Amino acid sequence: MTTDELREKYLQFFESKGCRRRPSDVLVPRADKTVLFTPAGMNQFKEQFLGQNLTLGGQPFTRAATCQKCLRTGDIGNVGVTAYHHTFFEMLGNFSFGDYFKHEAITWAWEFLTGEEWLKLDPETLSVTVYLDDDEAYAIWRDVIGLPPERIAREQEDENFWPASAPSEGPDGVCGPCSEIYYHAGGIAPGTTPNNDDGVEIWNLVFTQFERKGDPPNNLHPLPAQNIDTGMGLERTAAVLQGVASNYEIDSLRPLCEAAAAAVGKTYAFDAPHGRACRRIADHARAVALCVHEGVSPGREKEEYIVRLLLRRAALEGYLLGQDQPFLHTLVGPVVTSLRAAYPDLEETAESVAATIQEEEAGFLDTIDRGMAKYKKAAELGTIGGEDAFRLHTQDGFIIELIEELASRDGIAIDRAGFDAKLEDHRKLSGAGAFADSVMASGPLDAIRGEHGETTFLGYDETAVRGRVLGLIVDGEAAESVRGDAEFGLVLDRTPFYAEAGGQVGDTGHIESSSAAVTVLDTQKENGLYVHLARLDRGSLSIGDEVTATVDDARRGAIQRAHSATHVMHHALRQELGKNATQKGSKVQEDELRFDFAHGSSLSREQLQSIESEINDRVASGAVVTIENMPQQDARDAGAMMLFGEKYPDVVRVVSIGDFSKELCGGTHLSNSGQIGPVRLVGEDAVAKGVRRITAVTGPKALAKMRETEAVLREVAAAVKANEPHDIVRRVEAMQAEIRDLRAKLAAQTKDQLATLAPSLLASAESVGDAKIVTHLLEEGDRDQLRELADELRKLAPSVCVLLGADLDGKASLLAAVSKPLTKQGVKAGDCVKAAAKLVQGGGGGRPDLAEAGGKDPSKLADALEAGAAYYRAALAS
Ligand code: SER
Repeated sequence: MTTDELREKYLQFFESKGCRRRPSDVLVPRADKTVLFTPAGMNQFKEQFLGQNLTLGGQPFTRAATCQKCLRTGDIGNVGVTAYHHTFFEMLGNFSFGDYFKHEAITWAWEFLTGEEWLKLDPETLSVTVYLDDDEAYAIWRDVIGLPPERIAREQEDENFWPASAPSEGPDGVCGPCSEIYYHAGGIAPGTTPNNDDGVEIWNLVFTQFERKGDPPNNLHPLPAQNIDTGMGLERTAAVLQGVASNYEIDSLRPLCEAAAAAVGKTYAFDAPHGRACRRIADHARAVALCVHEGVSPGREKEEYIVRLLLRRAALEGYLLGQDQPFLHTLVGPVVTSLRAAYPDLEETAESVAATIQEEEAGFLDTIDRGMAKYKKAAELGTIGGEDAFRLHTQDGFIIELIEELASRDGIAIDRAGFDAKLEDHRKLSGAGAFADSVMASGPLDAIRGEHGETTFLGYDETAVRGRVLGLIVDGEAAESVRGDAEFGLVLDRTPFYAEAGGQVGDTGHIESSSAAVTVLDTQKENGLYVHLARLDRGSLSIGDEVTATVDDARRGAIQRAHSATHVMHHALRQELGKNATQKGSKVQEDELRFDFAHGSSLSREQLQSIESEINDRVASGAVVTIENMPQQDARDAGAMMLFGEKYPDVVRVVSIGDFSKELCGGTHLSNSGQIGPVRLVGEDAVAKGVRRITAVTGPKALAKMRETEAVLREVAAAVKANEPHDIVRRVEAMQAEIRDLRAKLAAQTKDQLATLAPSLLASAESVGDAKIVTHLLEEGDRDQLRELADELRKLAPSVCVLLGADLDGKASLLAAVSKPLTKQGVKAGDCVKAAAKLVQGGGGGRPDLAEAGGKDPSKLADALEAGAAYYRAALAS
């Protein structure tokens, strides 16, 4: 059975049990600050496990089935080494939210694994585990399924609780005992107890029945309802069904390993010396491609850092196998091929994903030789010091995990504590975002959310509302009140302040109570909680205070102009460049916007003008902006534009402008495109390979930009004595013609002067035998004149050595020339300038008959000429 068939069969089976098939959640759930990547299928159902949102499309929603894109890096060291570890993998899941429980979860799992219509696995190859005291699950396996007791192991919380060891170690949140199903390829001899370490765990049935709150004891609180969360490894189960010894041998992964091997000039074989490295490359390339597809580029923080790490690990594996050119990007095609049945949208970004990967790996490979040399030098000491590790990490692209990997292969220790301390110092010095980070730390926010729920956002309709203070955060801690001139985080029950999202910046403004005045510097949100990053200007503010929150209206208006203009620009870009110009990101602030999109080359002036005209035409048409909430599928069917990798709820907000723009968007907008006013494109650059950025200004800023250009033109007009700006071109052309004439005249004059200078220099020149040595410092002139004078001297005298110097714009310039016959005797112009250039702190060289040099110190030119003359004398004498 192919991997694609298994995925489909699983979903069909659970649909037949009343589960609703739901799409995979995104791989990078930006809205969930507790994880960087989706680690398991249950992640998208956290609310349902807590008993919330139990309807979908007007129908009850208590059973679901998915195939989820997951990424885990906890076992990254095992990837490629063991048969089963991956970073990116797919998890098949079925879920009950207060609906079916252990009995169904277990019997259905068994039916799917062993049923004639389904996977048809031999029951004699399967064993299970249950949590220590879970007698209920134990009894179902023994009495309902009929498994002999020796094939049902009881395990501790580190093995049979999900998340592992949750009761004693956390994290807080939903959890429960679990039961795992193991497959034993060789079968289990009747009456024997199998060793599960020799088998492979293919399915984990979690009975999510508790919410953990705080440390033990008494920290597991029964949830309002009992839930099921099961996860079956797609690749592992495919390996079992295909009878292969490793996940990397299945139909969807083996070709990727082969492509990885080919890309580094090898032929793949599982047991080949390079087998591990190729599996690792295949795994990491797959993970990186899926992340970049969701708009996460390699970078320095959080998920972007992990993408960089995976990419560089793979590039390093290739490099160690002898591939020093970028190759990972060539694996994007094979990755897309292997996953296109399940995730067809991968095809739409393949080109730009490959370009992003190629750029990052090229950058890394540029410095890899240097980094490797430095690593080896540092490693000679037997331990890599914190300082060396820090330098490799920050300057040479050898991020710490790579150094650790190399060091562990070489059996060398690293001073990790020393490295961490240096990094911490560095972070403190750069201090970026420290205030926002301390306010947005999850602890205090979780407590506020837990007590009061999410913030009511009213800012689509109002910009001033009354509210109540629910939370204050000072120096990263919850506070009862604030006073003095504190900077702090402020949470209200309701707010008109838009929090930064979807590229639109957060609102600023004022919040006042009877005893306090507060300036809001920014607004951010986390999991539905709106946090005002604020400064207390007067008085004191306490939990429970009634306040009036007022958004800076003028600024908000300017942001809205830019946001609606961004949608119009998106339309105009696609019209001009086609639908592959997909959005990669945007930033919308006061009357300024930037829009990043996939496109391979820079835009021509004509294209930019045509885009700008289209935007301004659409603005002038006064198109009405309408906003509707509708089911996500309806929005997709209506052709609404959405971003890859963005997590959208089932009911989405659709912003339409006239009949030409329809986008999923949570931002604030104008009511009519005409309110945008003029729009000017002010920049077009590359941000990454295959990604372009257009910047534009709107409304008053567009007008200001045009006036600025006009003012510059007027200044130029005055400077060139043109009466009107349109006279400028004629005036400048006339001036250029004049300059050309003057240059020609000057050149003729100089030639005459040089013609008289050359004979007089020769007349007074020093003679050594038949040869003459001419040195001369030119008061004024340029390089061409030095050359012409040298030529003239060589023309007039058959046997001459020349060294000329000049101070050209504060830099020393030297030129040496030697008549051809003399060069045969070993007199070399190149050697002469070298000797001379040393004195003016410079260097240079050239041919034996003509050489040039430059230097920093023109005040020593006379000495330099003397040194050159001394060289000639010596050379002529020998
Ligand atoms: N959440 C559980 C796991 O990841 C079951 O899906 O193993």
